[in-house]
Amino acid sequence: MGTSDEEIDRLLGKLTPRARALLLNGATTWRTRAEPAVELRELVMSDGPAGVRGEAWDERSTSLLLPSASALAATWDEALVEDLGGLLAAEARRKGVDVLLAPTLNLHRSPLGGRHFECLSEDPELTGRIGAALVRGIQAHGVAATAKHYVANDSETDRLTVDVRVGERALREVYLAPFEAAVAAGVRLVMAGYNAVNGTTMTANALLTDPLKSEWGFDGVVVSDWGAVRGTTGTARAGLDLAMPGPDGPWGEALARAVAEGAVPEPAVDDKARRLLRLAAWLGALGGRDVSRSPVPGRPADSPGAEGADGGAGAGPSSGAEGLPGRGPAHGAKPSGPRPRRAGDGRALARRAVAAGAVLLANKDVLPLDPEHLGTVAVIGAHAARTRTQGGGSAGVFPRGEVSVLDGIRAELRGRARVVHVPGPRPDGPAPPLDPDTCTDPRSGLPGVLLRMLDADGRELYAERRRGGRLLEPRLVPGAHTVEIRARLCPRTGGSWSLGVAGFGRMSLTTDGRTLLEGDFPPSTDDPAVMHVNPPAQYATADLTAGRDTLLVARRELAPGTGRATVLVAAPPAPDVTASLAEAVRAAGAADAAVVVVGTTEHGESEGYDRTDLALGATQDALVRAVAAANPRTVAVVNSGGPVELPWREQAGAVLLAWFPGQEGGGGLADVLFGHAEPGGRLPTTWPAVLADAPVTRTRPDGGRLDYDEGLHLGHRGWLRHHRTPAYWFGHGLGYTTWRYEELTVPPVTRAGDGLTVRVRVRNTGARAGREVVQVYLARPASALDRPARWLAGYTAVRARPGETVTATVRVPARALRHWSVAEHAWRTEAGPCRVLAGRSAGDVPLAAEVEVVPTASA
Ligand code: BGC
Repeated sequence: MGTSDEEIDRLLGKLTPRARALLLNGATTWRTRAEPAVELRELVMSDGPAGVRGEAWDERSTSLLLPSASALAATWDEALVEDLGGLLAAEARRKGVDVLLAPTLNLHRSPLGGRHFECLSEDPELTGRIGAALVRGIQAHGVAATAKHYVANDSETDRLTVDVRVGERALREVYLAPFEAAVAAGVRLVMAGYNAVNGTTMTANALLTDPLKSEWGFDGVVVSDWGAVRGTTGTARAGLDLAMPGPDGPWGEALARAVAEGAVPEPAVDDKARRLLRLAAWLGALGGRDVSRSPVPGRPADSPGAEGADGGAGAGPSSGAEGLPGRGPAHGAKPSGPRPRRAGDGRALARRAVAAGAVLLANKDVLPLDPEHLGTVAVIGAHAARTRTQGGGSAGVFPRGEVSVLDGIRAELRGRARVVHVPGPRPDGPAPPLDPDTCTDPRSGLPGVLLRMLDADGRELYAERRRGGRLLEPRLVPGAHTVEIRARLCPRTGGSWSLGVAGFGRMSLTTDGRTLLEGDFPPSTDDPAVMHVNPPAQYATADLTAGRDTLLVARRELAPGTGRATVLVAAPPAPDVTASLAEAVRAAGAADAAVVVVGTTEHGESEGYDRTDLALGATQDALVRAVAAANPRTVAVVNSGGPVELPWREQAGAVLLAWFPGQEGGGGLADVLFGHAEPGGRLPTTWPAVLADAPVTRTRPDGGRLDYDEGLHLGHRGWLRHHRTPAYWFGHGLGYTTWRYEELTVPPVTRAGDGLTVRVRVRNTGARAGREVVQVYLARPASALDRPARWLAGYTAVRARPGETVTATVRVPARALRHWSVAEHAWRTEAGPCRVLAGRSAGDVPLAAEVEVVPTASA
């Protein structure tokens, strides 16, 4: 048994009310406070969800980068996701992290949501099941998971202040449902969002108590989102337990005083402290039963992960936490024998996840490609060589190397076929951070840039070489007044370069001593993701000569309240669009097959902003059209975390959705392109043909309020209700074989409060073995209540050989049949007929049957 509640109360008894109150505020950005009186050490927290960054925001502290959340949900594969959670836990252990700030369980409500890539799906059932699998996977290895952001934090515009107005029924059945699933899976922390719901900011909202702590019995810690606590008593009287970050903020001493003055009741603080100690006990961080959070001894912190026994190619030094002593998943319990995970097998598993989540949207018999019949393959597009592996914001990590689509295809075809790469026209958008491969540190002459910290007189206090133009949280040096990034740029292309510096406060940029820009740029927001991670840039242009070095010097004064980010941005002159399209067309026309990769850029799909459209941009769309016209065997690979418009989708030979695939993206996609793996993904979100078709799009609050007017009808439910047809339905995705749905068997009757078991017989009608995700939806056309046209009730995957018939057994849980009664403030199940539908997507349900729900006294 773990530390009992009696033992925790005994430890709490050793602390004064003041000491208990002080425990509830962070000690640093990422750590809680230690309390020697009870031998409590600091707990270390870190962002995910696609990797574990650790405490340092520094490109030298690398992390295994998995596919983004939308790709994980696209696997519809809880066992795989649980294994990936184990990898995250191994990374956390390696980096000395106790608490992972993941998974993100908000929903894809509007396709414009800036953090779409970081959220799982539009559907509460799929989000709940995949989210719970992640929680189990992470926690099975003794690292605590955090379900965030509780609740209805589904878009970014004005996220610190927005007041989401959502009805009680939609809240319960849709937005709270994934959190309820995470709590049922034993999640140790829940993060209260920045936003307000129905008039009260989430860190002071009654929803933290009811249903979270009372009805659901959550006995873990409610932590604030970073900086979300904006008052002392209101938040302390509510269900919030821990204010992050520290050491400053409205809790700390102010909370201790409020308790002493009786403004916050002592028992409320005791309950919070008890929860924190319970978490610490589970982590082994309490009462001297310390498990060190320092990196695993004897292992280099950032060595590349090795391929393991599960099928990866290549070899490397083993890194990470082999055979970790895990801690238990149950509340307060000791480890019950979690599978030891070798972090060394991380890369192979990450690669497998890429293929498992890749969604084949359309295929005119072009995929898989057969290398035996390929002399030349044209690989086209800027995203082919620079595949975007993750979205922006606090979720960002520094991967241990990235395999681009081009790398993956080259590795596959080496010695077998010729690979020609043409970048095509540059995607629309402003300049990205300076590419470290194009510049050197002027002091050492080595690749990278020179970071200098200067005092008020411009004297150097500290200097180091860094590997990129994006510097977040540079080391704090006493007396530092200015941060400077110095780079010797060796332009390969001459002409008008776009140069700039991103950040807030007084900034300047010079080229060879000539001032390009200078001024004061005060913060436009206090959103931490914008302030510290993704600040806007100021741009200027400079004429540079190819082959002639230029010294770039960007400076930013470190005034309080101007954030921590300084970014030097640079882009060469854009190649002529017509000429680069012509080059791409020539390459595609001369090849046996073309793979054209297009996607979103740095400037879309990031925390802190929502998107304003879903377009890939005129040049990328023109590129796919031109390449597809030049070669019918064109595969368009889409590299985005959320929906984008694909106006050329009928023209391409195949359309493959790669998502943000993480560091092993190129390898995993090559596995799919060349048929080593079937594309396993099914859309976790409905993709509109054009934004205007989508029933729910608004993310901009009106007078501070964002009304969720659609109630229960988001995602595919909304499309069905409005009789609109999207480009691709929720659940859609092709494999490399075909299936016939033959028979659906349901019991004639089920009792309210019970679930039911549904059997779906499917036949593999194609020529390859394959996996099919069999989906079951419910509909209640005769209902007296407002109902979605149909809703996902269950799913399972089956495998079959060519010609083989298999029966998928899908469990429809009781929760799929219940509804929230606002009048009774309780779950109820309506008696009467219920249609059961089975198929391959929300828009393709060939089989239907009916079950009669009979009343029981209790439901
Ligand atoms: C984000 C959280 C994140 C936190 C710490 C916030 O801005 O909303 O998801 O965990 O920062 O980085």
